[in-house]
Amino acid sequence: MSILDVIEKKKHGVRLTDEEIRKTIEDYVDGAVKDYQMSALLMAIYFQGMDRRETFSLTRSMIDSGDTVDLNAIEGPVLDKHSTGGVGDTTTLIIGPLLSAYGLPFGKMSGRGLGHTGGTLDKLEAIPGFSVNLSVEGIIEATNTAGIAVAGQTANITPADKKLYALRDATGTVDAIPLIASSIMSKKLAILGDCLLLDVKVGDGAFMKDEKEAHALADVLVDIGENFGRKTIAVLTRMEEPLGRAVGNGIEIREAIETLRGEGPEDLTELCLHLATKLILLAEGGEEAKIRARLESLLHDGTALQKFRDFVENQGGDGRVVEDFSILPRAQETLEVVSDRAGYIQALPASEIGILSRDLGAGRITMEDALDLGSGIYLTKKVGDAVREGDVLAVLYGKPGVDMKAIEQRYLKTVRIGEEKSKALPLIIDEVVYGH
Ligand code: URA
Ligand code: CA
Repeated sequence: MSILDVIEKKKHGVRLTDEEIRKTIEDYVDGAVKDYQMSALLMAIYFQGMDRRETFSLTRSMIDSGDTVDLNAIEGPVLDKHSTGGVGDTTTLIIGPLLSAYGLPFGKMSGRGLGHTGGTLDKLEAIPGFSVNLSVEGIIEATNTAGIAVAGQTANITPADKKLYALRDATGTVDAIPLIASSIMSKKLAILGDCLLLDVKVGDGAFMKDEKEAHALADVLVDIGENFGRKTIAVLTRMEEPLGRAVGNGIEIREAIETLRGEGPEDLTELCLHLATKLILLAEGGEEAKIRARLESLLHDGTALQKFRDFVENQGGDGRVVEDFSILPRAQETLEVVSDRAGYIQALPASEIGILSRDLGAGRITMEDALDLGSGIYLTKKVGDAVREGDVLAVLYGKPGVDMKAIEQRYLKTVRIGEEKSKALPLIIDEVVYGH
């Protein structure tokens, strides 16, 4: 078998064998298959697709290209969650303490932000002293002592994905379901555990702009996970406007803490309670309404907040953050965006808001860019809110030297204000899960 045969086969819509897929990925990581050959194959996959077996096989080959991390020494079921990419999505920092307060351990590897989406590790680093650098043993030990740990990736997992993702980005082959699914799942499955919840975002801020496409992706993701022996659920959730009101790093920590006090924004609170309930159901079954009610009380009686404090202190952070936001990083520049008209907020496109927050200093264009952890946007008005002329729409927090007036103008162009109050769309759209 040569790479040329594999390209020819896929070009003509013939299914590839497991061996052909395995060898191609191995040779690509080694350099024997060249970028131009892989580009041709990716484009053939884009047009001809891959069936479930091929997609599973591709995922497994990508996992096998690197190391795996075994978290099974965590005492209790090993739970993981993943979001396909949101704006203002602070859910991990709320769900983790919530699950831990419920009695389930939560030890997790997270990532950094890129482009218009934020990353959990960057947000945590806004807490003075907090360290995301734990070894695998360190994560297990921290989870077994504090009930929760979140750390960065140290092992060399899925090098095939790193190489393929960069190539896809440069060849117009990112948005193919078998390629997206294998990319996401190889990274998740390389971290060995028991249960996985995937928050598949749908809408402006997401990879998948419409529900049908997102559902198709969710089906493939769950199929791969289950075939790998991981209990998997995908929940389709809306990402048209940012989640919650805070977009940035330090200000999202603040919002996570407010939510853990039971005083968070409605959408963020609802999503966290929903996802935590689903993950518990997946892990140990039970009665949905009872689980949900218990989680709500843990959010309101201070138990989840105390867990967050234990978690922060266990990783070297200043636990006073839960009661004193003044220790969080502050932005040098602040500007209130004021409305020049009255009406209702009709749209607040998540991807644009993510880009504005990035340009204020809260995000990166390339992985090498430095962040300003005090920067970001506070959305005073969200979709559905009534606005009068002169009302504050948002507060911008910027890094030193940023052109605040220019960002203000872009914000005013991005936010859509109209006379009619638009119909609220449900936050939770659907789910894909097998009976276990
Ligand atoms: N996220 C990933 O990790 N990979 C993709 O291909 C798309 C989203
Ligand atoms: Ca275990």
